[in-house]
Amino acid sequence: MTQSVRQSIIFAKRPAGAITDDTFIVRSSTIPDPGPGEVLTRTLWLSIDPYMRGRLNEGATYTTGTPLGSVMTGETIGEVVASAHPNFAPGDIVAGAFGWETHILSGGDGLTRVPRDGAPLSTYLGVLGMPGTTAYSGMKDIGQPKPGETVVVSAACGPVGATAGQIARRAGARVIGIAGGPEKCRWVTETARFDACLNHRGDLDAQLDEACPDGVDVYFENVGGAVQAAILKRLNTHARVPVCGLVAQYDDPDPRPVLNLNLLLYKRARFEGFIVGDKPGRFAEWRTLAAPLVASGELRYCEEIVDGLDNAPAALRGQLTGRNFGKLLVKVADL
Ligand SMILES: NC(=O)c1ccc[n+]([C@@H]2O[C@H](COP(=O)([O-])OP(=O)(O)OC[C@H]3O[C@@H](n4cnc5c(N)ncnc54)[C@H](OP(=O)(O)O)[C@@H]3O)[C@@H](O)[C@H]2O)c1
Repeated sequence: MTQSVRQSIIFAKRPAGAITDDTFIVRSSTIPDPGPGEVLTRTLWLSIDPYMRGRLNEGATYTTGTPLGSVMTGETIGEVVASAHPNFAPGDIVAGAFGWETHILSGGDGLTRVPRDGAPLSTYLGVLGMPGTTAYSGMKDIGQPKPGETVVVSAACGPVGATAGQIARRAGARVIGIAGGPEKCRWVTETARFDACLNHRGDLDAQLDEACPDGVDVYFENVGGAVQAAILKRLNTHARVPVCGLVAQYDDPDPRPVLNLNLLLYKRARFEGFIVGDKPGRFAEWRTLAAPLVASGELRYCEEIVDGLDNAPAALRGQLTGRNFGKLLVKVADL
């Protein structure tokens, strides 16, 4: 163990809209020893995810929020440094310990061992982890893309969107991404190999007219707001809309509804919200399917890595306005 002090990021003040400088504070404490049945991990990677904004709200979303004064939640990859748990030993690499902390004490529930010599460890928080599984679940259960259909995916440069689009393309669909800016769009078409990518900071209506002349069969919804409004007008009969996320609205305490229910009726469209954790078996299923595709380079991903736990709050703030380029991770320590 190289560090003698544990650093934790504490949720200190509830934001009224966007996260501010006083939303979080840093606390130092002594590194604890595990009690009976406990595991102590040294955090290597912390995942930054849009859902974290919902954890700062007073009312529950689909789960309870992070209580004020407690350590901010977030999934990590860590190395076991001390263990009084029968299933884990020092040196094990594990996913599933939660907390914006350099050292995490856990009871071992939900911890899974990750191979040291497999895929890069960071991918277990991205394409092979929760975001990749989200894309897989939304497309498998709701989107169900078919050959020749037009599929539109928003936040297409992020880990959920990039994976969702590549899944649809492997199913034979024509896939159009939406992303914020020409650089992201270039990555989406040239690396993730979508058929086209539209910049939502430009004239999205005009771009959609050109890219989707036959309408939209599947819209994988990651953002909501103005992007959603532009795409819903173009839904085809029997369109499917996996409602995965609404990141454009997370800072808004009172988001206005965009959907006119006439659309559901006239288009016989299917809108369905889903939460990846509702089907826990999907995580292992997706990892088994995706690991060889990632290893062979067939399934592409990009990452933005921020150094140091102190920078986690600014990273989350940036993600909610599109400043990240790919799966956002904080590198907390070297292996
Ligand atoms: N249902 C579930 O179980 C589940 C699980 C995981 C994630 N999600 C949701 O999936 C979505 C994508 O997650 P991710 O981890 O892949 O995130 P991400 O794409 O890495 O980051 C969010 C992206 O959203 C876009 N964005 C932010 N504000 C926007 C705005 N006002 N208008 C349009 N786009 C905006 C930005 O990309 P651009 O610059 O390209 O616009 C930003 O980079 C999120 O909504 C998240 O909450 C849901």
